[in-house]
Amino acid sequence: MSDHEEILPGQGLHIEKMPGHWLLAQMGKRVLRPGGLELTRRMLDALTIVPTDRVVEFAPGLGVTAQLVLAKSPSSYTAVEADDAAAKRVQGYLSGDNQRCVVGQAEHSGLPDGCATVVYCEAMLSMKTPEHKATIIREAKRLLVPGGRCGIHELALVPDDIDDPTRDAINRALSQSIHVGVRPLTVSEWKALLHREGLTITAQATAPMHLLEPSQIIQNEGLAGMARIAWNVLQNPAARQRVLAMRRVFRQYDRNLAALMLVAEKGNQ
Ligand SMILES: C[S@@+](CC[C@H](N)C(=O)[O-])C[C@H]1O[C@@H](n2cnc3c(N)ncnc32)[C@H](O)[C@@H]1O
Repeated sequence: MSDHEEILPGQGLHIEKMPGHWLLAQMGKRVLRPGGLELTRRMLDALTIVPTDRVVEFAPGLGVTAQLVLAKSPSSYTAVEADDAAAKRVQGYLSGDNQRCVVGQAEHSGLPDGCATVVYCEAMLSMKTPEHKATIIREAKRLLVPGGRCGIHELALVPDDIDDPTRDAINRALSQSIHVGVRPLTVSEWKALLHREGLTITAQATAPMHLLEPSQIIQNEGLAGMARIAWNVLQNPAARQRVLAMRRVFRQYDRNLAALMLVAEKGNQ
């Protein structure tokens, strides 16, 4: 393991209070988005990144998707990550003047207008208020050149006409177990969010939300990763309780939760 790979966000926080994604990272999990690597690959396929692309990623986390994108040799890669430790880790995967990870908020990235042909983010918007969701999509659009592509990979509520009490119960249960406010939208609402900001949807896919199911953990982290996570969780009763509580909520609401990826295009004017 190289130096930067030892850097993990959440260090020094109490297990009981830590955001769920950093708890999972501390336990050895590296893929922290709802649809796993499979849905990430479908998003990247639809974004069709080629060597002439200038790519911006919001919230790269531990840099798993960053590495997949860098393998496509884009002309530039810029990440905007709120967490210092995560940003350092991502920076460790980067090299040269055209690749960087800045510590900052996607809402106001500080990057110039039209600096990107592709902007994407995964597992970040679901944790934002409706206003912040819109601000972040507006920021993505501002960074895009006309004709540029925008990808998101988030948690969705199903069906589209889910009733308010069920929605409220899910938001409450997710937020209580993950310790971060979580407000997923339905598939139609996610599409409307991009549409309202002037983006045209060009691709869409859903997958079951099986982030903590053993089969998906093995698919995403490999057998050695699964063993590492299981060992760490068994060694730490407080973490074990929290991971099991998160999985209980995901299983309880399995029928009403899905992972969603959308790709959209900014028009030419
Ligand atoms: C659930 S993790 C997902 C990480 C990664 N995208 C993945 O899918 O594995 C959420 C990430 O969003 C980052 N984040 C939260 N709010 C942010 C913001 N306003 N701007 C940039 N990054 C943010 C967190 O620091 C964390 O890295």
